[in-house]
Amino acid sequence: MRVLSAGARPWKARDWQNVAEKKMKVLIAGSSGQLGQELRRALVVGGYKVAALGHGELDVTDPEAVRQAVERMQPEVILNAAAMTDVDACENDPEAAFRVNALGPRNLAQAAREVGALLVHVGTDHVFDGEKGGPYAVGDPVNPVNVYGRSKLAGEEAVRETAPDFLVVRTAWLYSGRGQKDFVRTVLTLLDAGEEIRMVEDQVGSPTFVPDLARAIRSLVEEGARGTWHVAGGGECSRFALARAVAEFSGRDPERIRPAVTADLPPRPARRPRRTSLVGRAPLRDWREALRECLEGVRAGAKY
Ligand SMILES: NC(=O)c1ccc[n+]([C@@H]2O[C@H](COP(=O)([O-])OP(=O)(O)OC[C@H]3O[C@@H](n4cnc5c(N)ncnc54)[C@H](OP(=O)(O)O)[C@@H]3O)[C@@H](O)[C@H]2O)c1
Repeated sequence: MRVLSAGARPWKARDWQNVAEKKMKVLIAGSSGQLGQELRRALVVGGYKVAALGHGELDVTDPEAVRQAVERMQPEVILNAAAMTDVDACENDPEAAFRVNALGPRNLAQAAREVGALLVHVGTDHVFDGEKGGPYAVGDPVNPVNVYGRSKLAGEEAVRETAPDFLVVRTAWLYSGRGQKDFVRTVLTLLDAGEEIRMVEDQVGSPTFVPDLARAIRSLVEEGARGTWHVAGGGECSRFALARAVAEFSGRDPERIRPAVTADLPPRPARRPRRTSLVGRAPLRDWREALRECLEGVRAGAKY
């Protein structure tokens, strides 16, 4: 059995050449989530052996379960797509948020270290306070304004402290056009229901098409990237501009989306940072181009 002592053998970039041909094993935690499902797809297409474990199969907050799963599967790469992502639920239950978003990654980092695996962890734009007045680069100071952001920051730090070999990929404003909570799907549903839609102009970010992110994560692994990266859709926009683009690109009436500011809307438990667009060394295509492709997929029959 390949069990290594702490930090004994960090992977070197050359280990990753022709990685698909070598059929390396990848364990995905949180594989039933929005990103987890796309990561699985991207890796299977790339020729990897994928062990995809949803929440029901692996609870990342259970250190013994994590250790056993990793020891049994002996993956070369562990991808953490598990998280508590409901920002208001995190605010209402900080203990649960820290358990999933901070203890979970620590458990995975510990297990990765024991088998000498690379841990790929997914972070968020919510580690920033949104007050910089421009896009955030990787080295900018962090200062989360809500429990979700603080718990996710603690998760990143746990990974950096514990895993000898890690890649932290911070991303933002995920959408896929699928799933109950998806932003694009929600806007389409409201438009089709004839409801008035008010969207805020004073929250700005980098909309990111999940399949683009999943492919980018696979590429970063194959290129031997390490450390902390920002990977998000190119450019930035407000929630209002994004919702209008959803309407326009899907052939609906953008005028049905009305502008608002956060203070006009009913208060929510968690404060939202104002402008948290991300820039980094691995920019994805412009958010409008990706959104058009997403909506073409929806039109072609993807369920929304
Ligand atoms: N969504 C965004 O806009 C966004 C933006 C920036 C960064 N991110 C980050 O991107 C990553 C993926 O997010 P996503 O949008 O794919 O979230 P998601 O759709 O909510 O998926 C998260 C998955 O984690 C699972 N999970 C929760 N607690 C778990 C536990 N204790 N053990 C194992 N699995 C658990 C969830 O299962 P249940 O549904 O059963 O709880 C769910 O399947 C997260 O790290 C998130 O912080 C997301």
